[in-house]
Amino acid sequence: MSTLTAQKRPVSRPQGRPAPELIFGDLWEYDPAPETADPKLKARYELFIGGKFVAPKSGKYFDSINPANEQKLAQIAHANAADVNAAYAAAKKAFDTTWGKMPGKERAKYLYRLARLLQDRAREFAVAETLDGGKPIKESRDFDVPMAAAHFFYHAGWADKLDYVAPGRKVAPLGVVGQVIPWNFPLLMLAWKIAPALAMGNTVVLKPAETTSITALKFAELIQDAGLPPGVVNIVTGFGDTGAAVMGHPTAAKVAFTGSTEVGKIIMRSLAGTDKKMTMELGGKAANIVFDDAPIDQAVEGIINGIFFNQGHVCCAGSRLLVHEPIAERFLAKLKTRIKTLRVGDPLDKNTDIGAINSKEQLATITRLVAAGVKEGAKMFQPACSLPAKGYYFRPTVFSGVSMSHRIAREEIFGPVLSVLTFRTLDEAVEKANNTAYGLSAGVWTDKGSRILKMSTELKAGVVWANTYNKFDPTSPFGGYKESGFGREGGRQGLLDYCKLA
Ligand code: NAI
Ligand code: MG
Repeated sequence: MSTLTAQKRPVSRPQGRPAPELIFGDLWEYDPAPETADPKLKARYELFIGGKFVAPKSGKYFDSINPANEQKLAQIAHANAADVNAAYAAAKKAFDTTWGKMPGKERAKYLYRLARLLQDRAREFAVAETLDGGKPIKESRDFDVPMAAAHFFYHAGWADKLDYVAPGRKVAPLGVVGQVIPWNFPLLMLAWKIAPALAMGNTVVLKPAETTSITALKFAELIQDAGLPPGVVNIVTGFGDTGAAVMGHPTAAKVAFTGSTEVGKIIMRSLAGTDKKMTMELGGKAANIVFDDAPIDQAVEGIINGIFFNQGHVCCAGSRLLVHEPIAERFLAKLKTRIKTLRVGDPLDKNTDIGAINSKEQLATITRLVAAGVKEGAKMFQPACSLPAKGYYFRPTVFSGVSMSHRIAREEIFGPVLSVLTFRTLDEAVEKANNTAYGLSAGVWTDKGSRILKMSTELKAGVVWANTYNKFDPTSPFGGYKESGFGREGGRQGLLDYCKLA
């Protein structure tokens, strides 16, 4: 087994005399341990419209590649406006003739079936997700896929209890919903969008991101296997032009978008004056705030998870660390020691902590913003790990000596890059944390319950985690303040965004 053949890899030790808490010695280097499940990919994926895979009217296809080695995985159809029209026509028909009229308890059976089918094929989906998007297999296997199934289970449970979504009121579905999702959690974002929409009785047209369409198209296979009436879920693939056609279609009663704030604003502008309902889940620049009484080792793990989870491709990533001055030096030393033990490399390897950056474009964005950090005078730390020769990778990076005016403290980097700032008082921490255009999430690390309650009231963020970070559950509503968007996903609140009240 891999552990038996493990060899010591020399790791550069911290400069000077190590503090007593620097307990990590040399790092064990494991033999490669790639996940071997067959992702069952097709060479070419068509559009999924009206319950069938159909060739695009556009006649066009593009390649989806594996960002870990730049190899082509499959051809994906590029839908044009006529294809999007066909998807909406199928969704409208399904809403009018089957799904919209079906009792909730019948819809629930389909949703339970989808959840179970996803569990049955969990390994296969996890490998496909990792190949197409670059995230470590331990994340797609232990987080993305089980959490996607959990969302279907949770919403299946709601489908026959919709009278309790808004007690005293009657709820009704909206009709056809248009949904556009990003590349950071491809299957999970699909689940966040599709499960509540379907539980409420809506039908959907969904567009996955261009770099990560494969698991959405594999999910279309589950839709067929579960025997959903044709047209309840339609998946159209393509780039921003396809996304714009999905968001702007006259048949859409509601549109739901997750992605960049920039594109969110374009969509909002283009839909101003229409009667479409809208929810937007956009960017973030979350602060993780560590007080001097925090459980330090636990906080170090939480900060690491908050920013290096999924290569920092997380809208609620804890990309700013605000650390209390009395412990700042000691905390930073511990953080660096821990970062040196992170394994960067082949996402399919079960030991990998940090996988591949999702695309060449995203790698360029990260590289550009990190260069800006260096230029503006922040102090950069990167461990001396070697990166694979092919593919898109970026070393975990920590900037200290960061001030609020630095670009790395203000702009969403969406990569494994942490900016460290310090504070002296609670008020200063709140002031700095809220001094951003975003407001998606925040983290507080302290031993005092009263401080947690005060901070969670004062922080202008949709989610505040206390003594933990990046924890998700289908029952908890998720969403932003300010330029992070509006509307909630998950929980009863999420369902309210997919219905009309009478
Ligand atoms: P993006 O916002 O362009 O892409 C997200 C989705 O929107 C994709 O499916 C894309 O095809 C679609 N899209 C693009 N233009 C559109 C338009 N005009 N109308 C409708 N749909 C459109 O994000 P991109 O360019 O991939 O990433 C840029 C930055 O956005 C990242 O560096 C990151 O900072 C941020 N981002 C935030 C996400 C979040 O979860 N909040 C997710 C992805 C990116
Ligand atoms: Mg890809």
